[in-house]
Amino acid sequence: MIEIEHVSKYYGKNPVLRDVSLELGAGRIHGIIGRNGSGKTVLLKCVCGIVPVSEGRIVVDGKEIGRDLEMPQSVGLIIENPGFLPNCSGWRNLQYLADVRGRIDGGRIRKAMERVGLDPDSRKWVSRYSLGMRQRLGLAQALMENPKLLILDEPMNGLDNAGVRQVRRILRSLRDGGRTILLASHSTEDISSLCDTVTRLEAGRVVSHDC
Ligand SMILES: Nc1ncnc2c1ncn2[C@@H]1O[C@H](COP(=O)(O)OP(=O)(O)OP(=O)(O)O)[C@@H](O)[C@H]1O
Ligand SMILES: [Mg+2]
Repeated sequence: MIEIEHVSKYYGKNPVLRDVSLELGAGRIHGIIGRNGSGKTVLLKCVCGIVPVSEGRIVVDGKEIGRDLEMPQSVGLIIENPGFLPNCSGWRNLQYLADVRGRIDGGRIRKAMERVGLDPDSRKWVSRYSLGMRQRLGLAQALMENPKLLILDEPMNGLDNAGVRQVRRILRSLRDGGRTILLASHSTEDISSLCDTVTRLEAGRVVSHDC
């Protein structure tokens, strides 16, 4: 599903990814771990085409990112703070994004919100959401498009214990339904309980890859 071939990334002369090569298969949950600043977020951004690689190439589902395609075709993302409209409800935000995509109906939005434990009928503005509620809304957005690939950067941030369990269940059921998930996390528990493969980055290098 994802082939990362000798990828390096420099900011100025600063290497943040160094000769990263990985093959990540479909229908699995792939964990990326490593300390703050080790390159997890930059790697995820390269895979989804937000940031261009300096060297090497990334192929998703047979298409080279940045050459054949700007972005992987069927991808859901949570990377850093999703940019929601603060003075609108969660429902209105998802409806707006669904309109931009043009082929997602209200039923799909409702289902995605319910799946992550948000009330689609709540009129509460997103500016009043807690961090955990925002994370849930980001996941609902990623789910409503029913993508083949989900790229999630620290998706458990700000979730309470029940929220963490719920999101883990959702991610497992997506995986069991054939979706591929690439997930960066600090939590060793997430990684051990959830991930089928674990890749550790240190200063931009892959130092271990366990399947
Ligand atoms: N736009 C940028 N310009 C310059 N340097 C950057 C930029 N984005 C990231 N970096 C640098 O790249 C390195 C890796 O950052 P990255 O955000 O990928 O770390 P991370 O592993 O996700 O860390 P964390 O656990 O804190 O989320 C850091 O040294 C960071 O300062
Ligand atoms: Mg990060």
